[in-house]
Amino acid sequence: MINVKGLTKEFKQGQEITQVLKGVDLNVEEGEFVAIMGPSGSGKSTLLQLLGGLDIPTEGEISINQSNLSEMTEKERTIFRRKYIGFIFQNYQLLPTLTVEENIAFPLHADGSLTKEKNQIIYELLDSVGLKGLRQKRANLLSGGQQQRVAIARALVNRPSVLLADEPTGNLDRNKAEEILGLISRFNRENNQTIIMVTHDIFAAGFADRIILFRDGVIDQVISRKDEDYAKYMANFMA
Ligand SMILES: Nc1ncnc2c1ncn2[C@@H]1O[C@H](COP(=O)(O)OP(=O)(O)O)[C@@H](O)[C@H]1O
Ligand SMILES: [Mg+2]
Repeated sequence: MINVKGLTKEFKQGQEITQVLKGVDLNVEEGEFVAIMGPSGSGKSTLLQLLGGLDIPTEGEISINQSNLSEMTEKERTIFRRKYIGFIFQNYQLLPTLTVEENIAFPLHADGSLTKEKNQIIYELLDSVGLKGLRQKRANLLSGGQQQRVAIARALVNRPSVLLADEPTGNLDRNKAEEILGLISRFNRENNQTIIMVTHDIFAAGFADRIILFRDGVIDQVISRKDEDYAKYMANFMA
């Protein structure tokens, strides 16, 4: 489903080059829910941006659904992203003066006007994220948790086969986080969506099939729910 090989990413600022990703290899199966954890600055968001085709790697390859992102033009990548990828940004990135419903509908306008079918999808999503009563409210008047739910609905409105989420519960309390994670894992199960979620919260990571620990631009450790010592590992982490 997702195949990443030898991925590197450098940022140049003046004369200085920072190597943020230093050779990442990663395979994610269709329908798998993967959590990425690791210290701040270790390259997690950068990896997600590359996976979502929002930026291009310095070296290495990313293929999703057998399409090689590195071989696409910027325009092709944009079209690919719209079709297959949902992105939940760390800071939501909602359009502040649009309503809840308009924000969720936004990605759908890219291929024409809203049909009856598209409106039905929006309505169902409003319901699943519990925002039916707030559909006419402007995004800048919402609480953090409500904005996060709008961002999730917007990311899912195109029925993407891959959902990329950058700390989707980062600014939420435990109860709200649990609600959001419940939603994400439900979409994962019901629609066989592939999910890659960056998180600093082991509680959130516990919802995933596999946890990837990132350190200094490389994958440091991988722990799978299927592993014998998974429970012990989690208990240690939480202690
Ligand atoms: N556009 C950019 N230009 C320059 N440096 C960047 C850019 N994006 C990220 N970085 C640097 O890359 C490193 C990793 O960032 P990031 O991927 O956001 O880490 P994480 O999400 O794990 O906290 C940081 O040191 C950050 O300053
Ligand atoms: Mg980050």
